Amino acid sequence: MEQQLKEWMEQLTLEEKAALTVGGDFWHTRSIERLGIPSISLNDGPHGIRKPKAGTDVGFDSLPATCFPTASALASSWDVELLESVGQAIGDECLALDVQVLLGPGVNIKRSPRGGRNFEYYSEDPVLAGEMGAAFVRGVQSRGIGTSLKHFACNNQEHERMTISSEVDERTLREIYLTAFERVIKQSQPMTVMAAYNKVNGIYATEHRELLEQVLREEWGFTGFVVSDWGAVNDKAASLRAGMDLQMPGRDEETVQRLTDMVRNGEFPETVLNQSVERILRIVLATMRNRKPGASFDAEAHHAVARQVAAECFVLLKNEGGLLPLQPDKLRSVSVIGQFAKQPRYQGSGSSQIEPTRVDTAIEQLKKSLGDQVTVSYADGYPGEDRVDEELLNEAAQQAAEADVAVIFAGLPPSFESEGFDRRNIDMPASHNRLIEEVCRVQPNTVVVLSNGSAVAMPWIQGPKAVLEGWLGGQASGAAAADVLLGAVNPSGKLSETFPMRLEDAPDFLNFPGEEGKVRYGEGLYVGYRYYDKKRIEPLFPFGYGLSYTTFELTGMNVNRHHMTDRDTLEVKVCVRNTGARPGSEVVQLYVQDAESRMARPIKELKAFAKVSLQPGEEKEVTLVLQDRDFAYYDSERSTWCVESGEFVILAGTSSADLPLRASVMMESTQKVQARFHAMSLFKDVLKRYTAAEALQMLADPSTGGGAPAGLYKDEFLITFMMDMPIGKIAKMMGNIQSEQAIADWISKLNGEA
Ligand code: GLC
Repeated sequence: MEQQLKEWMEQLTLEEKAALTVGGDFWHTRSIERLGIPSISLNDGPHGIRKPKAGTDVGFDSLPATCFPTASALASSWDVELLESVGQAIGDECLALDVQVLLGPGVNIKRSPRGGRNFEYYSEDPVLAGEMGAAFVRGVQSRGIGTSLKHFACNNQEHERMTISSEVDERTLREIYLTAFERVIKQSQPMTVMAAYNKVNGIYATEHRELLEQVLREEWGFTGFVVSDWGAVNDKAASLRAGMDLQMPGRDEETVQRLTDMVRNGEFPETVLNQSVERILRIVLATMRNRKPGASFDAEAHHAVARQVAAECFVLLKNEGGLLPLQPDKLRSVSVIGQFAKQPRYQGSGSSQIEPTRVDTAIEQLKKSLGDQVTVSYADGYPGEDRVDEELLNEAAQQAAEADVAVIFAGLPPSFESEGFDRRNIDMPASHNRLIEEVCRVQPNTVVVLSNGSAVAMPWIQGPKAVLEGWLGGQASGAAAADVLLGAVNPSGKLSETFPMRLEDAPDFLNFPGEEGKVRYGEGLYVGYRYYDKKRIEPLFPFGYGLSYTTFELTGMNVNRHHMTDRDTLEVKVCVRNTGARPGSEVVQLYVQDAESRMARPIKELKAFAKVSLQPGEEKEVTLVLQDRDFAYYDSERSTWCVESGEFVILAGTSSADLPLRASVMMESTQKVQARFHAMSLFKDVLKRYTAAEALQMLADPSTGGGAPAGLYKDEFLITFMMDMPIGKIAKMMGNIQSEQAIADWISKLNGEA
């Protein structure tokens, strides 16, 4: 491969090389027939393939492919193996449809519940998002198909996405918005990364050299090529210099010509051009050798996988009196209400919207599964458009009243959330909310099944006895809903994002979606549960929450050490038992709390998790491993990850709001990197290293015999008064004048240099 690359690079003309950095058409790289360089096809994902039919280009007239659950659903499975298997299935379909790079996964953090594209992203938490993304990439690339980790970086809203600047401090950027990308790249080495439309702190992501070269390649070891989001290149030369290799879509011949001229005139270094061409051709070679002309995929088998996966993503939010699972032998009639039962909302709108191979509906599957034992009635409940229809409401309520159980299918219609625009609030349509209220008024045994890509407000939550979150569950979601409702599958999902009680409680509320071309990430580190924890705001449903048809008990936790250094790994063993009568799966979640820190830190942060399946009465032990980065914060002054000495608490449980097990660990950091003091260093920081007496007695000025007045350090009030004063000013206010030299000497002594 390298030999072939070398030969191509020697034979390519300047024009051809410039052309290779711009796509050949909307979905392909450039081919160079003269040298037998083929083009490769890059197509959307992430939860299925959108390959336009021959002859169509931009459109949505795509070849059929399996539509799997979207990312917010998949992440709610908390099942790494499941994500890998979905990746493998989609990889097989890429081989069959002759796609070489799948444009996904999207691992952007869900900063706001109003994000229009939240359905396409995994989580508000970077560890969950990173682990899900890494597993998915492993799965797809196991078939020799490339992926495109997107959208790098800080593309956390749709509002003005092509121009807005995400204004985020360095520490928050590192700890929250880059970490998922870092985990995927270090664990799974995606063949490409997609640079986002937006700016990051004023610099377009496609021109952000620090992100694309220093962070992505030098720090994280990314070896593939960077592709722009479609239409995201604003300055071709600046993007190439920044390490943004392939401009999509293609056919921009003016840009090719201008770049060629710039190189020829010596305005642009050919070495930089060559670097991008090599990165692109290396992936062309790597993917082309895996092509399988004539390959096909088993649509029925993949549909069955999609159904099983969708069921795994369901989150049981409420189940009063064990109404669920429905017992057909104890039911005479079920009233199915809501158009989503007939026209399921199973994927999001925008570039990820694909042509499914088939679509299941809940009503069909319920009728099929309930057979002729149970009468199944149906009512629309709400109209297609966003308005309340009293007649439909009355018809539904009447039908519900006559049945033993009512099952309402509701959530968010496509017009409420999509790529390209954000949501104005987190409300469901009034027609859906009214329907649930009216039905619950006449039918105590009501179940609500939700289809939505992101958190919704539930003003009716006291009404129904049971609520299932089905997210956008893919083409088989209708059948999966029936499987869960009837207990063929025991739901085991956990929320991958917090559901706030109301919009105003959300972390981003004061800053989203920004104005005058900027959006301030004013909440800093406190995104998702980190915010609700710190502010002690009760959410409607917390991150990591989800019920089951059985019960579990965490019967114990132990750690392999109570003292460690940042060079050690901590092994945490947690025992979990199924204390109910039905097989089920539980997710053990491990959070780390820095009990004593000089820095502001979230109360706790998810650092590891494991899903485990258990028969009734069965007990298993899961082992989770923590290491230095799991304890670290990012020190932006020193541009490094820092582990502090002191106590950490390890918390284990089955929801971010239910962590019954804890263990304390004392960390002895080997990182001797200490802040160097300077004239503007604050006295309180000096007192973290010296006593007041030690520090002030070092301040002596032999030339004038000056120095800190004797015994000053005994004056508690004065010491407190000086805490937030820069030490250079303290020296000058010691009564007698301290020479500049004496102050400099003092600071050197404090730094241990004198
Ligand atoms: C879109 C999306 C990106 C997608 C690309 C190609 O604008 O932002 O996720 O892969 O363009 O459709």
